[in-house]
Amino acid sequence: MINVAVLGAKGRMGAEVVKAVEAQDGMTLIAALDLGDSLEQLIGSGTHVVVDFTTPDAVIDNLKFVINNGMNVVVGTTGFDEKKIAIVDGICKQNPEVGVLIAPNFAIGAVLMMEFAAKAAHYFESAEIIELHHPDKVDAPSGTAARTAQLMSDARKAAGLSAMPDATKTSLDGARGSRVGDIAVHSVRILGLVAHQEVILGGVGQTLTIRHDSLDRAGFMPGVLLGIRKVLTHPGLTHGLDKFMERD
Ligand SMILES: NC(=O)c1ccc[n+]([C@@H]2O[C@H](COP(=O)([O-])OP(=O)(O)OC[C@H]3O[C@@H](n4cnc5c(N)ncnc54)[C@H](O)[C@@H]3O)[C@@H](O)[C@H]2O)c1
Repeated sequence: MINVAVLGAKGRMGAEVVKAVEAQDGMTLIAALDLGDSLEQLIGSGTHVVVDFTTPDAVIDNLKFVINNGMNVVVGTTGFDEKKIAIVDGICKQNPEVGVLIAPNFAIGAVLMMEFAAKAAHYFESAEIIELHHPDKVDAPSGTAARTAQLMSDARKAAGLSAMPDATKTSLDGARGSRVGDIAVHSVRILGLVAHQEVILGGVGQTLTIRHDSLDRAGFMPGVLLGIRKVLTHPGLTHGLDKFMERD
């Protein structure tokens, strides 16, 4: 039996994780904590895995506490840049027996989209990303878009591709998006949306569009449950659910 605690349990994602864990054979929900609840109650609770879907501002303090107290963690909270990853890596090195998974996207389809996009990036001169989310999202670009762009930018570099064609001489601020590596990322926030991403690649005479749509937060749960199971046997820091899918 895997004992699970959820942080951010009253939030949109956390509430879905609570339901998924409660419905899952072989898992027990030990605690469902939100803002104002003390993490101290997790000590001695028998929690094996803590799942964090809180906020980019809160997550590092949560991770310090749970990792230093020997609990494995599955992190869905986004906003992890290289600096934050390095901080978590440092905490992990002091607690080598603890497993930590940070996944910018738990939707299996989105993980595959990232893989396909990185593969396609080798072959096309032009590539840009449009990510579209609900307007309550606090970070832009999305963690998924930033990670996809980084993978694509690395792939372009490895393929020796030169700068993308772009004759823009004048533009309004933000009109050409923000940059991750050499990939332009455009962020859209619209009421009614959940989480969507389109990767558009182009070469002479052809384009390729790779699109993923998260239509319901339930779509993230198979990935979260996979993360909970796998993190127990993978000590150290793992970045990206794809690593656990490869080992399946
Ligand atoms: N990795 C993924 O697949 C994925 C998918 C969707 C959303 N996200 C990310 O997950 C995070 C949460 O998203 P959401 O839509 O559920 O947000 P939300 O605002 O609905 O929920 C966040 C919850 O965290 C709580 N919280 C804040 N600080 C806390 C703390 N210190 N301790 C405990 N709880 C705390 C809030 O009260 C709130 O209930 C965001 O960073 C979002 O970008 C990740």
